Amino acid sequence: MCGIVGYIGKNDTTKILLDGLKELEYRGYDSAGIAVLGDDKIDVFKALGKLHNLEEKVNASSSRDYELGIGHTRWATHGQPTELNAHPHLGEYSYVVHNGIIENYKELKEELINLGHKFVSQTDTEVIVHLFENYNNKLNDTTKAFHNTIDRLEGAFSILLITKADPSKIFFFKHGSPLIVANGKDENEVLFASSDAPLIGLANDVVYLEDGVGGIASAEGIEFFNDNYSWATLPTSKQFAQKDGFRFFMEKEIYEQSDVVSDCMLGRLNDDEILFDEIDKSLIDGINEIKICACGTSYHSGLTASYLFERLSKVKCNVEIASEFRYKDPLLTKDTLFIVISQSGETADTLEALKMAKAAGLKTLVICNVDNSSMTRTADATILTRAGIEKGVASTKAFTTQTVVLWMLALYFGKANNIIEKDKLQKELRALREVPKSLIIDDAMHEKTKRLSKRYLHGHGFFFIGRDVFFPLALEGALKLKEISYLHAEGYPAGEMKHGPIALADPELFTIALMPQNLLYDKIKSNVEELSARDSTICSISPLDFDLSDDFIKINETDHYMLEFFEMLIALQLLSMEISVRLGNDVDMPRNLAKSVTVE
Ligand code: G6P
Repeated sequence: MCGIVGYIGKNDTTKILLDGLKELEYRGYDSAGIAVLGDDKIDVFKALGKLHNLEEKVNASSSRDYELGIGHTRWATHGQPTELNAHPHLGEYSYVVHNGIIENYKELKEELINLGHKFVSQTDTEVIVHLFENYNNKLNDTTKAFHNTIDRLEGAFSILLITKADPSKIFFFKHGSPLIVANGKDENEVLFASSDAPLIGLANDVVYLEDGVGGIASAEGIEFFNDNYSWATLPTSKQFAQKDGFRFFMEKEIYEQSDVVSDCMLGRLNDDEILFDEIDKSLIDGINEIKICACGTSYHSGLTASYLFERLSKVKCNVEIASEFRYKDPLLTKDTLFIVISQSGETADTLEALKMAKAAGLKTLVICNVDNSSMTRTADATILTRAGIEKGVASTKAFTTQTVVLWMLALYFGKANNIIEKDKLQKELRALREVPKSLIIDDAMHEKTKRLSKRYLHGHGFFFIGRDVFFPLALEGALKLKEISYLHAEGYPAGEMKHGPIALADPELFTIALMPQNLLYDKIKSNVEELSARDSTICSISPLDFDLSDDFIKINETDHYMLEFFEMLIALQLLSMEISVRLGNDVDMPRNLAKSVTVE
């Protein structure tokens, strides 16, 4: 995810900005840049890849004294990772750095181009600086121009803007993505950052900006646009700060899911349809079948999608584990859209499967979290999941965003092929809009999983069971537990238990039963009754209390099974994590596993 820093003061501005960006490295980025202002002149430095590339460029220039500056690390979402697309973005005399996504950038860009503004990047961000200059040229008032600019933006935007028209100031605004402003330890010093880490040691008092709060900072102080702010004290540990106060990166990533899903849907969810700028209608013309290939957690999101594609868009869809697909001499027909799913975009088996499909002349699409990865460079089209860097080896938010993208894609197909009825589509879109809410973690649920973990770490085996999309969710729940607790767990289709696995049932066999109210409740209920009759210990996850279960994790009642799906996912992730914590395992870096598996 992108990072922002800003500085006003008498110390070495470039050094403070570069050091700040280094503190944000852990969030992942593919390019970086700074814009620094001194003697009414702005110098800008940008570089692709790691920060030392940027540092070399800065060091190579004849340095001047700069009074202020802004900096950014970019994780590509709109447009390739290139120097032109790296922030800060320039108009004629101003620069901006931005975190978030401007949903209405296309309309704004068109308007500004018609007014004679020249755009050089493919980003959504560039509209901000042109819009600002457009207003400032007319009004000759930077404050009014900044306000007018903010009023026109839709989506998520945390912004720092500097301008030669008012060279002693940094204009700032927060909406959506986090932004912090701080008084530095030295007199007349102001700092900005998108998270705590760059500020530690340099500032004591900070304002964690609320949405809709902005202002203007200069060496004279910080002026807020409204009173909705309060000063707070910074944490002192950098490690703690990097994890945003959570114990593990995995925990932080579980908690981030609501936000990253909002980012993932930004600009893609319209009033009555799904929009994907990145794919052309020709990609799905003539397609009668979808084949999905992936590994690990990404495979589970593919399996979930196969139910959604067939149900919502009536397209035949099958899913294969990439390592199996590669050597089976697969039959590939050109009316098949080949989709690979990958967090990293580098998994060797998935990449090879993609190459095979391309060589066979199929249209290919990758759903990926990392732009410019091997897979995004290979596939015909890419849809980025916008989950931000995922550090925990056990994947969490990548799965959630992949599943949301695939659900949207199923609706996109359904609409494009005139299969899905208007009312049905409306119902699905309404449910999609509710997903971020369903991913907000309820303290009571987290507490419950902590308590359950005390007993559940003693099982000799686990079955996770579910039906329909809750079967892949059961597989994912079992995989999470295996990965970080090292306990044996299997995911199973609930209706299949009686064909063998039920022979294992005894009190030390723990069954985690996924019992959604909105999909096949009675069917799964009978399957769980069968297990309960054989003395298995049962933990049900459901909105409905179930007499025969020993333990119960309650989720909210909703009117769509996918909302139950995402809430159950949270419960499963938390339960695995809490069991792993009690066992004293390394939650973020479990034994024997790698985040990105680039060998066969
Ligand atoms: C590894 C990771 C898993 C991941 C799988 C596929 O095994 O530990 O978390 O699901 O690779 O990775 P990908 O990057 O292709 O999604």
